[in-house]
This record gives sequence, structure tokens and C-alpha cells, in this order.
Amino acid sequence: MRRARSATASAPSTTANLGSGFDVFGMALDAFRDTVTVSMSASRGVRVVADGGVPAGARSNTAGLVALAAMRMAGARGLEVRVTKRVPVGMGMGSSAASAAAAAVACDRLLSLRLRPAGLVRLAGTGERASAGAVHYDNVAAAVLGGFVIVRTGPLDVVRMAPPRGMRCCVAVPEVAVPPKKTAASRGLVPRRPRLEDATANVSNAAALVAGMARGDTALVGSAMADAIAEPPRRASVPWLEAARRRAVRAGAAGVAISGAGPSIVAVAPAGADIGAIGEAMRRGLAASRVRCRIVECRPTARGAARA
Ligand code: HSE
Repeated sequence: MRRARSATASAPSTTANLGSGFDVFGMALDAFRDTVTVSMSASRGVRVVADGGVPAGARSNTAGLVALAAMRMAGARGLEVRVTKRVPVGMGMGSSAASAAAAAVACDRLLSLRLRPAGLVRLAGTGERASAGAVHYDNVAAAVLGGFVIVRTGPLDVVRMAPPRGMRCCVAVPEVAVPPKKTAASRGLVPRRPRLEDATANVSNAAALVAGMARGDTALVGSAMADAIAEPPRRASVPWLEAARRRAVRAGAAGVAISGAGPSIVAVAPAGADIGAIGEAMRRGLAASRVRCRIVECRPTARGAARA
């Protein structure tokens, strides 16, 4: 049988942390999907063709890094990677993870790597180095597997759960210029040694959030999105957070957090909530800081990275 010359996969946008689970929680959102096609190439190395203004160097592009790692695993000679971006770049919706996850699934198929889900997450994680400067798996695990994920490290293990049925989400994506290497800079603000009281607060909230997911209780999930560790130092770069949170909760949101490393913020709401009103409330919250935004109404999705 002749081997395929190319493979295509897509992967969803995600929101990471959900407040209390820095680098631990991720959730796939049905708002956007990136698509990646990987093809065999006669030229040595990895060549990236990308739209959406993302870097096209193999080592500076998240999908390129994944292809380089996959090529080494398979002993392949050359690959071409075409990236079609739909997830807003650098806004905290898992843009780099969506491309990395789609690239991992496409490479797995093209190069017959036959990776298990954990192997795909690990491979996709190599791409995060391009945007974050360090490997972390919250966004990529959600982008690969779909649903809500809990990432354990040392050794890497991902627990996947279904979010509460009917949960709605709303992401406010601010119209602001994002500095280069935003995620790496934003990660640099997070204390390496948090205070014990803050760690305790986050552990209690993270545990309650998982209980909320397990019970299908969006109100509990939302109230457990409070974050005492990463959010306080990041507030300065998301100055609209408090005003938007106050208004969104008044409009029926269960909870609001910075989405990943920001600058977007995400609200979760139970089935039946008026998500339009929550979005409008968030818009007004950002407007109080004189910032315009795009409101993205979406839902968690079980559909992770998949052949396209
Ligand atoms: N957990 C990561 C962070 C998500 O907050 O920095 C962004 O990639």
C-alpha cells in the first residue's frame, strides 16, 4: 500500500487555568478551530507556511516545533507544515495549543507514529515552547482530548472529564496590542514560591472546581474559579477584570477568570443563563477601562484534535 503524502487535522480553541488551576486545568471551547496539513517533503528539515501573522520559522512556530519532534521520532527527512489559523493569536484562547495539537495529530497519522492520547499531548506540548518559552500542558491537553482536563506532571498524566451539561461560556477578547512573547512575559509575573495561605486557597478552590465538574454543578465551578496565585500579579495587564467580573456575575455568570495568560477573560454560566446579557455586561466592564472587545459566545466541546 502506498503511504499517504499528507495528513490534515484540526483542533479547538481552549481556555486554561479556570482561575484556580494554573497550568493544571484546561477546557476545549467550540469557538474556533485551527487546521494543520503536514506533507512529506523532498527538502531536508521542516518548512512552515502559516497565515494569521504567526512566525513561519520551524523553531519559532508551534506547529513547526511539533513537526521537528515528530520527524525525529519517525526518522523522517523533510516535512512541510501548512497552518490555517482561526483561533485569535496571543489572546489567551489557546492559539498555539490548537496549532500544536492539530500538528501532532496530523504528524501521528502521516508518519504512522501510533501515539496514544498521552503521547499526543506530550508531542503537542513541545510546541508550547514557541510561545510560552516553557512546556506546559493545560491548553494542549484540552486541545488534543477535548472536554475539561486536569494535567498532572511528573509523570505526565491527564484526567479528562465532561463539563456540566449545558454549560455556556463567554470570552471577552480585548482589542489591544499584544506584546511579543506575551505568554512568556505573563508567566514571568507568577511567583515561583507562592505563600502557603495562597497555595491552600487555590488547592481548596481547585478541588471544589473539580467537584463542580463531576456533579454537573456550574455554580460551584464558577465560585471556585478564584485564584490567589497567578491572577493578582497579572491584574495589572488585565485592568478590566474586576469591573467585567462584577457586571457579568450580576448578569448571571457563575464565575469569571483570566483566560489562560490573558488578555481575554472567560465567563462560565449554567444552562439557561442569558449569555447575551453576560457578554454585554463584560463588554461594559471593558468599556469602563476604555477598551473595546469582541464577545465570543461558546460552549465547552468534547471534540478535541481530529482528522479534518
Ligand atoms: N497556564 C498557562 C499560563 C496558560 O497561565 O501561563 C497559557 O498558555
